[in-house]
Amino acid sequence: MIAAIIQARMGSTRFPGKTLAEIEGRPMLGHVVDRVRLSRLVDKVIVATSDKSSDDAIAIFCEKENIPLFRGSEHDVLDRFYQAARANPADAFVRITADCPLIDPDVIDAVTSRFNAGGFDYVSNVQRYTYPDGLDTEVFAFSALEQAWQEARKPAEREHVTPYLRTGKFRTANVESPHPVPAGEYRWTVDHPADLEFVRAIYRKLNNGKCRLEPILALLKEKPELQEIQDSTTSNEGYYRSLYQQAAKGAAKKLQLTRSQAWYERSRKVIPGCAQTFSKSATQYVQGVAPIFLDHGKGCRAWDVDGNEFVDYVQGLLPNILGYANEEVNQAVVQQLGKGHSFSLPNPLEVELAERLTRLIPCAEMVRFGKNGSDATSGAVRAARAYTSRERVACCGYHGWQDWFIGTTTRNAGVPASVRSLTHPFRYNDATSLEKLLRQHPGEFAAVIMEPVNFEEPVDGFLERVKDLAHQHGALLIFDEICSGFHYGLGGAQKLFGVTPDLACFGKAMGNGFPISCVVGKADVMRTFEEIFFSFTFAGEVGAMAAAMKVLDILEGTDALARMEANGRVLQDGLSTLAKEAGLSERIQCVGRPQWSLMKFREPDRNDSPLLKNLFQQEAVKRGILALATHNISAAHDAAAIQQTLEAYAEVTKTLADWLYDPQPARFLEGQMSQPVFRVR
Ligand SMILES: Cc1ncc(COP(=O)(O)O)c(C=O)c1O
Repeated sequence: MIAAIIQARMGSTRFPGKTLAEIEGRPMLGHVVDRVRLSRLVDKVIVATSDKSSDDAIAIFCEKENIPLFRGSEHDVLDRFYQAARANPADAFVRITADCPLIDPDVIDAVTSRFNAGGFDYVSNVQRYTYPDGLDTEVFAFSALEQAWQEARKPAEREHVTPYLRTGKFRTANVESPHPVPAGEYRWTVDHPADLEFVRAIYRKLNNGKCRLEPILALLKEKPELQEIQDSTTSNEGYYRSLYQQAAKGAAKKLQLTRSQAWYERSRKVIPGCAQTFSKSATQYVQGVAPIFLDHGKGCRAWDVDGNEFVDYVQGLLPNILGYANEEVNQAVVQQLGKGHSFSLPNPLEVELAERLTRLIPCAEMVRFGKNGSDATSGAVRAARAYTSRERVACCGYHGWQDWFIGTTTRNAGVPASVRSLTHPFRYNDATSLEKLLRQHPGEFAAVIMEPVNFEEPVDGFLERVKDLAHQHGALLIFDEICSGFHYGLGGAQKLFGVTPDLACFGKAMGNGFPISCVVGKADVMRTFEEIFFSFTFAGEVGAMAAAMKVLDILEGTDALARMEANGRVLQDGLSTLAKEAGLSERIQCVGRPQWSLMKFREPDRNDSPLLKNLFQQEAVKRGILALATHNISAAHDAAAIQQTLEAYAEVTKTLADWLYDPQPARFLEGQMSQPVFRVR
């Protein structure tokens, strides 16, 4: 016996009374009940509303229509749900909310039949959105509901019924749509009056709402303007808002960092800068507050030498795309180590990996390997100089530590002026700034090298224009995909945006933390590597290549990239909503794509705010969230980690909302401010 419980209330803060608002002459709740009743697997449909007089109208409607009704707690909706379930015994319950008038009985059946197949306590289609938002279906056993009812403590868990079932304590499964839609593209819940207008339009156009998912999608493809009726609001805003409301505020307790400090003291004597990478050094965090040395990591989590645990959003500065210590990747490397990994002659794995990359990356006809991203970018630039017999390079973004690029930054000590004079930065999304450079030195540019995307999307035609300009001026186009590579798809940004460069560089995520990078490109340009000197002892080390092959197996063979995007979106939407709740939406923004988003901290005059960034980082790290300004999402960042992060961010934003009213917010800083790697000029 399967019972569906439809949760309904009149008192929505954003849209009071929506539940009984009419759509084509029938109250919305009536449509939802009708649609759920069309499910083949649901035996009984119950409406659960509150016992407040404001919800009497729902009771009157249900009585008139003979719909079984349960009334219970207004705010402890988990209790209301549980009591409704007890009063209507069944083996399992389907949770539907009354603000989903396009709920699809076929989708309910897909989720329910997965549950019926056994093995899970909770099955839904909401852990990763592949259906439009608004077809949310959750099915769970009575025993799981009862356990959540007994154990869930947090107000948001009680108000939103199912978050506790997704905390990792239950056996859960997610049902994916056979025709997945991009997460966030469709929102069919009625949160605002404009959403109701949108749904009314769908009902009008499609047989008074007697339609399923596919015809609605087809209609929206044909008439995309229908979606413009809606405001662009965030999915699940209500949940994030209640996280904010429940959050405690104030400075969190300081972490115990004695061992980190002791290692730091030892390090100062033997390691200049106390780190091998600037961005990993103690100067990048609030000093005295953040850990300095990590001991181990697993999945999305890392532990420092004092035993403090963190959800890690740095992931080694992006390489750990599958998270720390991925068993399959490590196993592949161990196997290779057993056979030797730094050989005296080339090894077939080099050929296999190269062949595989040429299948995946649009510009890749041939491949040469390196270890760091800088190997790849510097090799590509040298090849372009040799190929064109020219010396100047235009660049846009960060490209590594070698002279040709780092000379353009404020960390240019040790780079000869003659080298510096040959590299010219241009601005992203400003093709005119590139054109000016190319015109200033006609016939002298060997290459235009750029990050095709990072946190700012290319405006229409920008990448195409850059390519045209480079070619018109006889220069090669090189995409630096060290960061975009794999996070934005296996073909990189070049595949995503449909612009194919002459050469491209990949690194970071290729080996899930094992050192490997590559230059790929058109065969005639790549043949230049037979002439130039791009040759070093470890370039052909195959332990990292074994890792890369396994990373590609996993990224190609699973939904890892899609999950990264979906989970990253929850984090991004959640943080944006929390900042809005705190009245800080102009000051804290989370921009970029969900799988690699950037937190921007601003002063009221919109300039960057290092103080706000430091205060945020200080309170986040004390609450177990390790992040620079970015969220480097890995496939190991699961729903529980994201939820933990949002709970921490709710406290942080609420605390900052208070502190920023203080005439001297700097007094809340508990350590020394982080220092930028590159001076702001
Ligand atoms: C876009 C980009 N290119 C190149 C590099 C250089 O890579 P590596 O530090 O591995 O030498 C980086 C490193 O952060 C990068 O972000």
